[in-house]
Amino acid sequence: MLLTHLRLIHWRNIESAALELRPGLTVFTGQNAQGKTNILEGVHYLATASSHRTRRDHELIQWGELTAYVRGEIVDPTTSHLVECGLEPGKRLLKRDAQPLTRVGDLYGTLRVALFAPEDLEIVQGSPEHRRRFLDMTIAQMQAGYVRLLQQYRRALRQRNQVLRSLKMNGSHSEVPQLDVWDRSVAELGGQITAARRVAIGKLGPILREHYRGLAEREAVEIGYESRSEGVSPVEITDSILDLLRAHRHSDVERGSTGYGPHRDDITITLDGRPVAVFGSQGQRRTSALALRLSEAQLLAEECGEPPVLLVDDVIYEMDRERRGRFWTRIPENYQLLVTATDHRELAATRECGGMFHVENGSIHPA
Ligand SMILES: Nc1ncnc2c1ncn2[C@@H]1O[C@H](COP(=O)(O)OP(=O)(O)OP(=O)(O)O)[C@@H](O)[C@H]1O
Ligand SMILES: [Mg+2]
Repeated sequence: MLLTHLRLIHWRNIESAALELRPGLTVFTGQNAQGKTNILEGVHYLATASSHRTRRDHELIQWGELTAYVRGEIVDPTTSHLVECGLEPGKRLLKRDAQPLTRVGDLYGTLRVALFAPEDLEIVQGSPEHRRRFLDMTIAQMQAGYVRLLQQYRRALRQRNQVLRSLKMNGSHSEVPQLDVWDRSVAELGGQITAARRVAIGKLGPILREHYRGLAEREAVEIGYESRSEGVSPVEITDSILDLLRAHRHSDVERGSTGYGPHRDDITITLDGRPVAVFGSQGQRRTSALALRLSEAQLLAEECGEPPVLLVDDVIYEMDRERRGRFWTRIPENYQLLVTATDHRELAATRECGGMFHVENGSIHPA
């Protein structure tokens, strides 16, 4: 999969840019705060309709402007697509091949990316939400319908929580049949999500071990899915969630929120059996985060039959030279790589550079 053209207008500090991109390595150089990450963020937005740095889309619009626009042309061996995102405050228009997309989920899979960013450290050491998001975004890029499933689940959860709260306020049980309905929805949708996540973790495990060993050579990394629900198939997990919801209804009403389901699950990451978030050194955490992203990229490539576009922002410079070198050798030559760098010399030594751009105060020029 290849991103051949990228257009950005009023995107963060980038007034206007039209870039032609080639296979292999493309480097964006420039000093701090010039717009390098903003470019990668734009590419990430084309793939996922979301920024990795903010949930508030209006922040992506250039200060003093009313709209922002990003467009990408994507070529994979058999087809090519045009993806566009237009932003206005409170409004977003997504298009693929000039057709407006009503569902965000329909955008996923057109351009697939794996973004390596400093924020990835949060996957390893942050709250469970970061880990769930990492996993969900990975699955969403390879499984059509998964984004919709997540949205339906969130809606069902909201409705159930509303009923829980009104039960608590009224102290009556007249709404219990309604709760039965939402229990079933939450359990059924939750069962499908949990099953998909368990499958993905099962596949990521061996790939992650390989990448971590390749980067660090020492400890053995393990990844696991942590949930109160049991079972493997969606049906088994649905039954298990339903049992949990029914058994803990009382405490759910007291709290006014749902205590069981995939929104409460977590992913465990251990080194030699110990949680990396608790016992891992800085370097071990960084290596774990990098290995997770490398694994995501490989899984996407294997499952979709095409390597994703890799976006590498800064992360590697916090590692020693040797680990940096190992990192590059773990990325196959046929991947398209968009990399930011304040100093590009080392990169140029690593592999052939297909293009280099200099970024200065939001202007991007071939270097
Ligand atoms: N909506 C916006 N409108 C205009 N400028 C913005 C907007 N959002 C962020 N910026 C500015 O964009 C600049 C460049 O940000 P970016 O994160 O891309 O820098 P960078 O080149 O990656 O720097 P570093 O090497 O420090 O990571 C920042 O100075 C920031 O203040
Ligand atoms: Mg940056």
